[in-house]
Amino acid sequence: MNTVTDLNKIPVPAYIQAIAPYVGGKPISEVAREYGLDENNIVKLASNENPLGMPESARQAMLQTFDELARYPDGNAYDIRAALAQKFRVPMDWVTLGNGSNDILVLAGHAFLQPGASAVYSQYSFVVYALATQETGARAIVVPATPGLGHDLEAMLGSIEADTHLVFIANPNNPTGTFLPSAEIEAFLQRVPAHVVVVLDEAYNEYLAPEQRFDSVEWVRRFPNLIVSRTFSKAYGLAGLRVGYAIAQAPLTDIMNRIRQPFNVNSLGQAAAIAALHDHNFLQKSYELNRAGYQQLVQAFERLRLSFIPSYGNFVLVKVGNAAAVNQALLKQGVIVRPVANYGLPEWLRISIGLPEENQAFILALERALGMAA
Ligand SMILES: Cc1ncc(COP(=O)(O)O)c(C=O)c1O
Repeated sequence: MNTVTDLNKIPVPAYIQAIAPYVGGKPISEVAREYGLDENNIVKLASNENPLGMPESARQAMLQTFDELARYPDGNAYDIRAALAQKFRVPMDWVTLGNGSNDILVLAGHAFLQPGASAVYSQYSFVVYALATQETGARAIVVPATPGLGHDLEAMLGSIEADTHLVFIANPNNPTGTFLPSAEIEAFLQRVPAHVVVVLDEAYNEYLAPEQRFDSVEWVRRFPNLIVSRTFSKAYGLAGLRVGYAIAQAPLTDIMNRIRQPFNVNSLGQAAAIAALHDHNFLQKSYELNRAGYQQLVQAFERLRLSFIPSYGNFVLVKVGNAAAVNQALLKQGVIVRPVANYGLPEWLRISIGLPEENQAFILALERALGMAA
């Protein structure tokens, strides 16, 4: 019996075979094994996770849900959708839950793309836009970034073609941390053709300073082709539970819900997300820790004369030269960060902002690594 699958004999579409798998942050256990290190001494600043851990309120909510786990989750996710609808003052049929906001991005791809269609997104924007596009057989129109590695909305508008069904905008963007002010996005939304669906991915929204915030849900009221996507993975500290959501007018929400897996968000995730949504103290703490950690990293980069991209998220992109070598030298010291060569940025590393002591450990390791890698 031939146990090796021969892809020539199985009709895997060429556009699926062409997909490069998603590369995540290296797990702590893997680095400990590979480099002979103690897991407890490893610092992971590689996946834009919340260094505070999850909120205690979410832990309690999950404990109360434990005895229910033999049952399927509420497929309509009524309670969390009601809580989100109330927070954003929108009808419940404007809210779609996702298995992380990654799920929302993929749902949008499946709902609005197909072979013969195209999606527009920026160079250096979140890698899942490419995956969500490629797996539908649609064509990707990748628009060159600005010199500061941000989205060039004017060029993105100009790149929309007759077959374009979808545009992805990340604000702030990962891995660059760049931010688009509200006036630019609003002008874009006013000019984009009404039949083109725009996904505004705001996974890092809660890290914005009050003066940078704007009411993107207000745009959802005005623009029937807009989907705003957010997540509980970052500032809410629930990355492992996989809960994200989209706000869009009822017709787009209806389409996404038709193809959503019926139980895409599990019971623990639903319970934890409700608790986290109401935990204003935790959110504020996450925000403040991130601001302080950003200053700590940026001051070190300035002292070491390293270029970095001013970031509006919970991570910073820093230019270190031979990033592969510096990354190796960091790993040997038990510090995991994210190389971004797969984004076409081989001289840069993305550092997630951690606890003060984690940031400090990274800075010390970086100084040594730069010496070692020179
Ligand atoms: C810009 C952006 N959007 C979406 C996501 C997806 O996150 P999640 O699926 O955990 O909500 C990420 C994760 O890193 C991201 O950086």
